[in-house]
Amino acid sequence: MRTRDGKEPPAGCSFAVLTLSDKGSRGEREDTSGPWLVERLSREGFVPKGYAIIPDRIPVIVDALIDLVDRQKVDLIVTTGGTGVAPTDVTPEAMGQVIDKEVPGMAEAMRAASLMKTPNAMLSRGRVGIRGQSLIVNLPGSLKAARENIEVVLPVLPHALEKIGGGTADCGS
Ligand code: MTE
Repeated sequence: MRTRDGKEPPAGCSFAVLTLSDKGSRGEREDTSGPWLVERLSREGFVPKGYAIIPDRIPVIVDALIDLVDRQKVDLIVTTGGTGVAPTDVTPEAMGQVIDKEVPGMAEAMRAASLMKTPNAMLSRGRVGIRGQSLIVNLPGSLKAARENIEVVLPVLPHALEKIGGGTADCGS
């Protein structure tokens, strides 16, 4: 499957989706964003390696991200939720403990495009960063927001992952 700019994800490029939500993790709210993202990224040619709903707790988020990158060697991790300004929103703070490098342009591009849809876009503090040879992308939590944001970065993901992997054809190990 090709992305909109005609590029395919590097062969065998894996991904995982983490939904960050206290209510979702307690089964008190149905997660629509996570399953939609799994379907969307699979359709784009990425290989699904995991999906989980975890609470908005920094140590839990940090552990989950480190496990996906360091142990499971997942190439692309997409999180949804917890990027805003509510007291429970701590995704960006957890990212600060996980990533080696920031990719600010990708986060800025998502916010800029989102501002054309809603002024509330400026309330998302989502980040994009690299740990090891994996890319971690934070999206806001609602299905609408997750959808509008991932579409902005989808066209650059193949090139980004190829570069992060050192320019090899295979995506990750
Ligand atoms: N971006 C887009 N494209 N569309 C949206 O509807 N919602 C915003 C924002 N970004 C939105 C968006 C809202 S209402 C909030 S509060 C922030 O994302 C943070 O969302 P989160 O706390 O669920 O991560």
